[in-house]
Amino acid sequence: EAKLAILLSGRGSNMLALAEAIKTGPLRGLAEVAVVFSNDPAAPGLEAAAALGLPTASLPSKGRKRAEFDQDVVAALQAYRPDYVVLAGYMRVLSPTFVRAFAGRIINIHPADTHQHQGLHAYEWAFDNHLPETKITVHLVDEGLDTGPILAQQVVNLEGADSLAEVQRRGLAVEHVLYAETLADLIKRNAAQPEGTSC
Ligand code: GAR
Repeated sequence: EAKLAILLSGRGSNMLALAEAIKTGPLRGLAEVAVVFSNDPAAPGLEAAAALGLPTASLPSKGRKRAEFDQDVVAALQAYRPDYVVLAGYMRVLSPTFVRAFAGRIINIHPADTHQHQGLHAYEWAFDNHLPETKITVHLVDEGLDTGPILAQQVVNLEGADSLAEVQRRGLAVEHVLYAETLADLIKRNAAQPEGTSC
């Protein structure tokens, strides 16, 4: 089973969906949660993870320099020997040190097409611009901001969504399914062809 380090900064609904997918969904038998980590010790998602009996860890990022903070996070995560670092609403740009430490094994979900929108507030962007649809994106993380190779995308119909809450509701419902399925595919693919082998 692949060991996941799930990183979050807030509510943790994607973390909960992944935990559920490990129990009864597409990640069953494929993955386990090594740790749920947050850069905010008060993140509600941490408490939700602890309530499920999952191991949790946190380091406050407030007031820290990015590179130094990320070095500490890398050290903290490495203690859990994760096979994958799964960003689930982790609202920080990763420094090159971090990305290199887990190169090719960091995965993110972004609530928009990363070719059209990067960074924060993607649902606000879709709602404010009255977009008829948006595209949830799961991608590998490289050293840029939401520039890594796309693993999967799914369109969300936003027609008639007349509030930001409704846009988020529709989007999150897709996120929660797409993230687990895409991660399951990635784990299976990597298991079939381990790193370092060529065809
Ligand atoms: C999700 O919509 C996720 O896609 C987004 O933050 C939310 C976290 O919700 N991530 C980003 O915007 C990353 N740029 P959650 O804490 O309930 O999973």
